[in-house]
Amino acid sequence: MFKRHRKLRKNEMIRNLVKDIYLEKSDLIYPIFIEEGENIKSEIPSMPGIFRYSIDRLSEELDELVKLGINSILLFGIPKHKDECATQAYNENGVIQNAIKFIKKNYDNFLVICDVCCCEYTSHGHCGILDKDGYVKNDETIEVIGEIALSYAKAGADIVAPSDMMDGRIEKIKEVLEQNHFENIPIMAYSVKYSSAFYGPFRDAADSAPQFGDRKSYQMDFRRNKDITSEVYEDLKQGADIVIVKPALAYLDVLKKVSDSFEVPTIAYSVSGEYSMTKAAAQNGWIDEEKVVMEQMFAMKRAGASSIITYYAKEVAKNLKQ
Ligand code: PBG
Repeated sequence: MFKRHRKLRKNEMIRNLVKDIYLEKSDLIYPIFIEEGENIKSEIPSMPGIFRYSIDRLSEELDELVKLGINSILLFGIPKHKDECATQAYNENGVIQNAIKFIKKNYDNFLVICDVCCCEYTSHGHCGILDKDGYVKNDETIEVIGEIALSYAKAGADIVAPSDMMDGRIEKIKEVLEQNHFENIPIMAYSVKYSSAFYGPFRDAADSAPQFGDRKSYQMDFRRNKDITSEVYEDLKQGADIVIVKPALAYLDVLKKVSDSFEVPTIAYSVSGEYSMTKAAAQNGWIDEEKVVMEQMFAMKRAGASSIITYYAKEVAKNLKQ
């Protein structure tokens, strides 16, 4: 006799009973772009529905998140002034530092995660300090990355999330945080981060496209499979508490491998291009947006994501409410 798989799919009640993948609002992390200046709420052309806010209008976004029950936010800053060495990233009155203070002063329940990188703060748009040939210098850059992480911690960040992909950055951040009595701030490392065209719309959003060349000398090569565990292992050894795999949907195999191989919370970052592709198809009436988005969320959970960074967090929270 063959097995009748359809018995457990007969109706909604039995399907609900036997499901084994769960998604909760507490799994969602919502990215927010904060621009230095006043009275800014500007929609990102390639990401309909996603805005840049200045701090004086940030509450419009935060109040909505409170209503929807989304607690975790990932902050990206867009400074007024950029320079070769990303100095605005660790200015104690920088856009992110001020945003953190604003959030902590006015809200009780946000878990504030700060992306730690140079690319939004450098005039050349690369994630670090350049030598005369335009190559990103590793050991000089991690000094800056350490400064940035410390500066966010001082401002009140709950978690720091380095996304620069320099070697040794986790050890540097850990050392700096420990030395300055921030030993209880978790490090959420972008351990597996590919050089990806899926970040295209983000570079519009954060004004961070490299002015020349690409990020291939520091972000990972998607044609290579054999550096994944080594990247994660190294970050964990250096002191990472949580790891991120990014992008997500085209890299679910990688996510699965990481979550199966390491006992560490593993976060999927469903990046800007994934959002924009889904949004564009939805706006054309070609797909059912809500259903496609929820299916994507469950796919990431099934591959082992403990949480998901997604620009769709608000829509997902609305759906989970029903
Ligand atoms: C900063 C950073 C990037 C993203 C997150 N952090 C851009 C990049 O590496 O080019 C991309 C996020 C997205 O596409 O949604 N280094």
